[in-house]
Amino acid sequence: TKLDIELDTIEKGGYDHFMLKEIFEQPKTIYDCLRGRLNAEKGSINISGIEDYLDEISNAPRIIIIACGTSWHAGLIAEYIIEETCRIPVEVEYASEFRYRNPIVHKGDMIVAISQSGETADTIVAIEKAKEQGAIIMGIVNVVGSSISRISQTGAYTHAGPEIGVASTKAFTGQLAALMMIAFKIAHHRKTITEERFFHLCEELSFVPEKVERILQMNDEIKAVAETLKDASDTLFLGRGYNFPIALEGALKLKEISYIHAEGYPAAEMKHGPIALVDENLPVIFVATKDVYHEKIISNMQEIKARKGKVIAIINEGDTITPKIADAVIAIPETDEIIAPILNVIPLQLLSYHIGIARGCNVDMPRNLAKSVTVE
Ligand code: G6P
Repeated sequence: TKLDIELDTIEKGGYDHFMLKEIFEQPKTIYDCLRGRLNAEKGSINISGIEDYLDEISNAPRIIIIACGTSWHAGLIAEYIIEETCRIPVEVEYASEFRYRNPIVHKGDMIVAISQSGETADTIVAIEKAKEQGAIIMGIVNVVGSSISRISQTGAYTHAGPEIGVASTKAFTGQLAALMMIAFKIAHHRKTITEERFFHLCEELSFVPEKVERILQMNDEIKAVAETLKDASDTLFLGRGYNFPIALEGALKLKEISYIHAEGYPAAEMKHGPIALVDENLPVIFVATKDVYHEKIISNMQEIKARKGKVIAIINEGDTITPKIADAVIAIPETDEIIAPILNVIPLQLLSYHIGIARGCNVDMPRNLAKSVTVE
């Protein structure tokens, strides 16, 4: 009925789909996650849920991150960030694997469960088991009051608001914002980063919402790139370092939303297999913003071009070298390389959305997928 249609339009806030609405909400949802916790002027981070456990977390012999799907990708990024800044060993596990393999957990180990819904069955059972063995559970959860938030002794909500689109977008960037704040806070507490570095990271984090806004303004440009990819049957996503998990997430998003076969790989690892697939029909999407790997990733790009692959690259504004190699570039604002993943995923979300739409897919409810997997 007309009323149903009107209600639907109101719910989607004028956007055609929840996915697009939620992608566009990110400047606000990331801000909501940082608000009241990050004070960039003073150079301080205060997360009420973790203050009481600060010493336990800081002294944990190791951290094990447990999650599924997109949340697991946030965990991989957190691994790199925590190890780099806090110098605590981190492992990242798929909840479904962890729960069944009699994992080694010691008293005092810190378990970080990352979950949008807080109801993913595998993640719940995994952390219950670890809790029995004396681990401390930290929940990074979006849904307030959910099962995982109740099982956890400590943690932080991501404050991204309800996420309706089945493929996660704003919950993922909320997870990254929360995990980054926690990592920087612990690193500062452990004195494994300098006062100056901590201050710089706080400042860069505070600029994220505004930079996301600038990326969203490139929507039409990204849509035009999507047009050139919509008929692909296979794609490869490559990134290194902090951007390797973003390559995985870009590939996951594309397969969920458009049903195009997509694989994510660490860029250097392509030589050990995926390069065999490269020909003029294989688009390769590089996450190649400025970091210590930049020159290396450019040489990976040249290897793809030498085999006639089509290269699309997410780069930073001001990069004059990559546009000469790639077939198309999406140039986004720069930030510290540790924080870059939260920006770099945005163009990939939009790319998947527009490719899905161009292929006539149901982007909000892809076939066979569920928003939260509460069964094994
Ligand atoms: C499902 C959803 C994904 C999500 C995953 C983990 O597969 O479709 O978007 O990343 O579950 O869910 P969680 O709620 O635990 O983050």
